[in-house]
Amino acid sequence: MSGKEPPTFGSEGCNKNRLLIGGVIGFVVFAIVIGLAVGIPLSKRSTDEENLARAKRILNEVPLIDGHNDLPWQYRVEAQNQVHQVNLAESLIGVWNTTHTDIPRIQQGHLKAQFWSLFVKCDSQYKDAVRQSLDQMDTIKKIIARYPDVFRFVTTADGIMDQFKDGKIASLVGIEGGHSIDSSLGNLRMFYDLGVRYMTLTHNCNTPWADNYKVDNADNTITPLNGLTDFGKLVVKEMNRLGMLVDLSHVAKKTMLDAIEVSTAPVIFSHSSVWAICNHNRNVRDNVLLKTAENGGVVMVNFSPVYVNCAPNKLPQATLARVADHIDYIKNLTGVDHVGIGADYGPKSTSVGLEDVSKYPALFAELARRGWTDAELKKLAGENLLRVFKKAEEVRDQMMKDGVPPYEDHIADGQIKSTACRSGPF
Ligand SMILES: *[C@@H]1O[C@H](CO)[C@@H](O)[C@H](O)[C@H]1NC(C)=O
Ligand SMILES: *[C@@H]1O[C@H](CO)[C@@H](O)[C@H](O)[C@H]1NC(C)=O
Repeated sequence: MSGKEPPTFGSEGCNKNRLLIGGVIGFVVFAIVIGLAVGIPLSKRSTDEENLARAKRILNEVPLIDGHNDLPWQYRVEAQNQVHQVNLAESLIGVWNTTHTDIPRIQQGHLKAQFWSLFVKCDSQYKDAVRQSLDQMDTIKKIIARYPDVFRFVTTADGIMDQFKDGKIASLVGIEGGHSIDSSLGNLRMFYDLGVRYMTLTHNCNTPWADNYKVDNADNTITPLNGLTDFGKLVVKEMNRLGMLVDLSHVAKKTMLDAIEVSTAPVIFSHSSVWAICNHNRNVRDNVLLKTAENGGVVMVNFSPVYVNCAPNKLPQATLARVADHIDYIKNLTGVDHVGIGADYGPKSTSVGLEDVSKYPALFAELARRGWTDAELKKLAGENLLRVFKKAEEVRDQMMKDGVPPYEDHIADGQIKSTACRSGPF
């Protein structure tokens, strides 16, 4: 026989295939029956895994930028700012239990850029707020410098992308409370020079030039300033001129509206949630969300139960799903361009499912499950903040080109409530 026999499609081979197909179908049916019997919907299980895989893929494609983390304050309270006392490179679970942040968990969480909070307490106002603030700045720089393979100090939008490409965690600084500048535009400029890239106009106390959210509380007893004073408006303008982001977390609703009105750059809320879901005056009302969208800004959503879960929609506990509701709400109201992440990790309690910095991918997986597209998840993760930051840099560049000089005004006499720690002439 020559070797040219036609290939055999004999009945025997065909029967073998039938047997094989029958076996596969039988197994699938068996698996589904077993799956249903033990209560595991197979399709859902694989979808959850797929959503998490998708979340992680997206967080490898764009930097996840978090607007607020209180780790530097924990260094002050718990380690007297002696950064060598703490080994952030190893898990701090069981060692330094009050923190949600360490390098292994940052890496698990795919966090790629962090605005570290430069915070000092309101009771330092009119006393040594500037001294303490400089000390916190030094501490943040020491922490970053101690882990050069992990963190890089960054002061620009492009810097965030450069470090992302280089596999480092871009580390930025935001001042949490205008009391840190002690009503001095000169001090504001010096903090910018040190690398500060946002300032929250107030913490939980008024400055002499801006109302904080507590003036909106029913039990408020202090006389409101009615938002920003004229000097407060100059602070915002000088921040625009410098290219420092104007942060409206913690401020009164009138201060939010005044700042949005005055600012020629987009504003941020570095760690705030939605008032309509949780009626805390720290949160952002619908009209302010809409104004923020008009202004081109971004609200970076807070994960802390006190801002996530309260009246009139209080659940037994704050959960990841409820945080996702806040994020969805902003997307529904303003479009996806005005929402970001500002978890507010630190010593406070957290929402179930978002216990520490390792948990961001779970939140993105939940939003993927809810139908968010890749493009939308990328905006939430970091693209929105990058857009805002770049725009603030453009506004700065334009003002420089236009020759706008530094604002050299001083706060008017009598507006500083306590002068015990001051000496003249201004
Ligand atoms: C810290 O956390 C660990 C692990 O959860 C626990 O065993 C330990 O008791 C905690 N220590 C303190 C001081 O809370
Ligand atoms: C947002 O819109 C979607 C689609 O209409 C809806 O299913 C969801 O409940 C909305 N979420 C919130 C928190 O409003």
